[in-house]
Amino acid sequence: MQKPEPGFLFSIGFFLYVFVLSVHSQNDDYSVMAILKKALNSTSDLQWNGPDICKWEHIQCNSGRVTAIQISSLNLQGTLPKELIQLTQLQIFQCNNNGLTGPVPYMPKSLQRLAINNNNFNSIPTDFFKGMTNMLDVRIDYNPFGQWNIPDSLQDCVSITSFSGMNASFVGKIPAFLGKDGPLPALVYLALCFNNLEGELPGSFSGSSMERLLINGQQSMNKLNGTIAVLQNMTFLKQIWIHGNSFTGPIPDLSNHDQLYDVSLRDNQLTGVIPPSLIALPSLTVVNLTNNYLQGSPPKFKDGVRVDNDMVRGSNSFCTKKIGEPCSPLVNALLSAVEPLGYPKKLADSWKGDDPCVGGNNEWLGIVCSASPVNISLINFQSMGFSGKISPNFASLTSVTKLLFANNNLTGIIPSELTSMPLLKELDVSNNNLYGKVPLFRPEVTIKTEGNPNIGKDPPAPVTGDNSGGKGKNHTVGIIIGIVAGVVILLGLGAVLYIKSSRKKLKHVSEVQIPNEIEVHPHHFEGGNAKKASVAGGGIGSSSPSSSAHNAEAGNMVFSIKVLREVTDNFNQRNILGRGGFGTVYKGELHDGTKIAVKRMESGIMGEGEKGLSEFKSEIAVLTKVRHRHLVALLGHCLDGNERLLVYEYMPQGPLSNHLFDRNEDEESKPLEWKRRLIIALDVARGVEYLHGLAQQIFIHRDLKPSNILLGDDMRAKVSDFGLVRLVPEGQASFETRLAGTFGYLAPEYAVTGRVTTKVDVYSYGVILMEMITGRKAIDNSQPEENVHLVTWFRRMLLNRDSFQKIIDPALDVEEEALDSFRTVAELAGHCCAREPYQRPDMSNVVNVLAPLVEIWKPSESTPADIYGLDLDMSLPQALHNWQALDGMSTINTSSSTMLRTRDYNTQSSLPAASGFANSFNSMDAR
Ligand SMILES: *[C@@H]1O[C@H](CO)[C@@H](O)[C@H](O)[C@H]1NC(C)=O
Ligand SMILES: *[C@@H]1O[C@H](CO)[C@@H](O)[C@H](O)[C@H]1NC(C)=O
Ligand SMILES: *[C@@H]1O[C@H](CO)[C@@H](O)[C@H](O)[C@H]1NC(C)=O
Ligand SMILES: *[C@@H]1O[C@H](CO)[C@@H](O)[C@H](O)[C@H]1NC(C)=O
Ligand SMILES: *[C@@H]1O[C@H](CO)[C@@H](O)[C@H](O)[C@H]1NC(C)=O
Ligand SMILES: *[C@@H]1O[C@H](CO)[C@@H](O)[C@H](O)[C@H]1NC(C)=O
Repeated sequence: MQKPEPGFLFSIGFFLYVFVLSVHSQNDDYSVMAILKKALNSTSDLQWNGPDICKWEHIQCNSGRVTAIQISSLNLQGTLPKELIQLTQLQIFQCNNNGLTGPVPYMPKSLQRLAINNNNFNSIPTDFFKGMTNMLDVRIDYNPFGQWNIPDSLQDCVSITSFSGMNASFVGKIPAFLGKDGPLPALVYLALCFNNLEGELPGSFSGSSMERLLINGQQSMNKLNGTIAVLQNMTFLKQIWIHGNSFTGPIPDLSNHDQLYDVSLRDNQLTGVIPPSLIALPSLTVVNLTNNYLQGSPPKFKDGVRVDNDMVRGSNSFCTKKIGEPCSPLVNALLSAVEPLGYPKKLADSWKGDDPCVGGNNEWLGIVCSASPVNISLINFQSMGFSGKISPNFASLTSVTKLLFANNNLTGIIPSELTSMPLLKELDVSNNNLYGKVPLFRPEVTIKTEGNPNIGKDPPAPVTGDNSGGKGKNHTVGIIIGIVAGVVILLGLGAVLYIKSSRKKLKHVSEVQIPNEIEVHPHHFEGGNAKKASVAGGGIGSSSPSSSAHNAEAGNMVFSIKVLREVTDNFNQRNILGRGGFGTVYKGELHDGTKIAVKRMESGIMGEGEKGLSEFKSEIAVLTKVRHRHLVALLGHCLDGNERLLVYEYMPQGPLSNHLFDRNEDEESKPLEWKRRLIIALDVARGVEYLHGLAQQIFIHRDLKPSNILLGDDMRAKVSDFGLVRLVPEGQASFETRLAGTFGYLAPEYAVTGRVTTKVDVYSYGVILMEMITGRKAIDNSQPEENVHLVTWFRRMLLNRDSFQKIIDPALDVEEEALDSFRTVAELAGHCCAREPYQRPDMSNVVNVLAPLVEIWKPSESTPADIYGLDLDMSLPQALHNWQALDGMSTINTSSSTMLRTRDYNTQSSLPAASGFANSFNSMDAR
């Protein structure tokens, strides 16, 4: 008898196994759902009936498996069963805003979004997040968990962009792994308000890509403390809420925080002078400094910034109550003298008003005044526990006879400036930690330096080991050489590691589905460039040997023509992605499979010669730094002879125009749904908003149109070709017409006068909106003469309420409830295309109108205050504002959108409310 092959048996067994498994798991999903239904004490709100769980309300499936359970705000009672972990395809689980109790069970590893906030869960396993590598978004706020630390297992959520654990009974410290170089590189939103956290902000936050840091209102005894110096290096921050803690020290320099708009520092123990960089923040809209010990002149912020620094209650230590009024020179001198001491709180607490010698009573701690003439005669900071350096600015206090700094922990040197103090009789720095040579004072000055072990010596060498100090220059040279060598080696190692890790990160980011509007700053992609540097390998530098290393570091890769030829198959026709006003774009693939888009500038279009070259380079340097989630990133460039090439990230789904107009009917490419179009419109608006104001400098695109809007595989949009017009030397008339834009999208004033403002882009954007609504091109020659120009036709149709629905793209299924949003967008488009530039909204207004319409992921119907921990005593507009600020996290229902819209338009542009639009448009036209 012939025995069957074991392999054959095995495969049969395997197939059977797979078959059973798949049938089985469907059944499992049913049984798990049945268990869940029971555990939830299902009320009538939950329409969970019938055998097909995929037809149950609030459930989504894929291939019969449950992928989403969204049962927020249904007034549910009961518990969550431990069987939930068997739903191995579950990606979204939201049960927020119910009355669920008991422990939170383990969830399947497939989970991406978890919202269990605002329930009565009493515990959650500390290893809950173990292995949850798919997690993007976690909300566990407002549950009466027992006290726990921020769990270490969170480190497994390597894709997470948003973690919200407000009022979640956290104790202990904020862990360092949440910061830079930790395992969570995509984390941009961190909310830990109203817990019992204590200790300092981790140093690892320095350099992180965090955009929203909300840690206000800790309830612990000590609250969060230490300085907020790390904020200086968190330059992606948009929102800082640290109020209601015990932070000390000065507000750091914020001059690199160009996106920061909401700064709440109130109710801490901050001291020092308000840094000018805070006042100058370009995006600032709200700032609250109340109840600190801030010093110096009360700051005057720009118009439009909502400020509360509470002069009335005098809850800071400003020198005057009058905003913007400078302090007296003496006070300024004292403040600058104590800056290197970190503006000690003791002093800030006692130094009130603008006169250190007020009333001759010596009320200012550490300051002793002489009676006549009234002036500072003595600075007495002895035994005050100060650390930091001695400021050379004490020298400007020329009336001082004694500087007494004994018994502190002062470091650094004795500044030689102090020798110039004309009346100085005594300098006592004994028992500190100073080093260096004592400068030469006048002979009559008594200098006390005992108790400073290193005084008279060189600075303590920063390397450990043999550190006997006085072996002469030779030794020092050796140390320096050693340090340099060490640094070189470390840098080398670092570069290798960096390239490796950026490789990981790049992959990471491309896989991460970024939740709606939480922007992952393209910062991460810079690592990707470094990687490409290594990939492009041998070719690099052959065109630009001197600068490649430097450029690679700045994220501005120099590619060699050889590499670019190779990856585009010698600029093969087959690889052409498109042609634009500036050149032809080719697709390329680097050795590791990374796709790029290479734009080969038309020869002659760029300035030539040395000057043209250096201008090109400096412009490229600027453009590489303009990074935003909705702008196509410039990765690098290539210069070779007359060849000018730009290398961009590759956008797989191509230009928007292909999806709107040039669709291939027989392919299965479906028309873009309205929701999709809205999301794209908002993406574009955000990108352009950034170009217009939030980047380091203002960019005006001048050629916005659907073929310049590119889509990724997630169908999110990015604007391309921005800033290119800047690459072309001024006054090249022959290109003017070609570069100035595209007919159909040109703002009238631009077409006529050539005057360019940001409103030129707003106009073009309006045309794009019209195209997205109607599915018709800006210029459509197939139409009867009077309808060829989309804007003209659109305006006419919009004036007539009855014809409104006829403008909607016939390819779209229009649902009744979507009509409102059509109307809103149509009106917005009309405003954007207003004849006069000043009548058009700003791009930020556009964003504010669109954001509420876009609903990608709706967490719940609950009030924002519940979720986002806003103060309930906030006024409604304020709350709305803050909420809007958090728009990435949620959406605003349409009933409030009108309110936002009317509120957020420029007041001077006096745009009419939605309903009056048609009329006003009429009158605008009549001008
Ligand atoms: C669920 O319902 C049962 C009976 O209807 C009740 O006894 C039980 O207390 C309920 N549980 C919760 C958590 O509401
Ligand atoms: C911060 O608070 C902790 C206790 O939570 C305390 O040990 C530490 O000394 C404090 N640090 C500062 C700088 O006050
Ligand atoms: C900020 O970054 C710079 C440069 O990396 C570093 O020297 C400095 O110590 C950082 N500051 C803080 C407060 O982390
Ligand atoms: C600033 O904080 C105080 C409480 O310290 C609050 O009363 C006030 O409304 C806040 N102002 C703004 C503009 O947020
Ligand atoms: C003195 O300052 C140094 C460096 O700033 C610090 O390491 C040390 O702990 C301080 N000592 C005291 C007693 O504060
Ligand atoms: C070190 O110093 C000694 C004398 O001070 C000198 O003879 C010797 O050449 C020096 N060595 C180096 C490496 O500079």
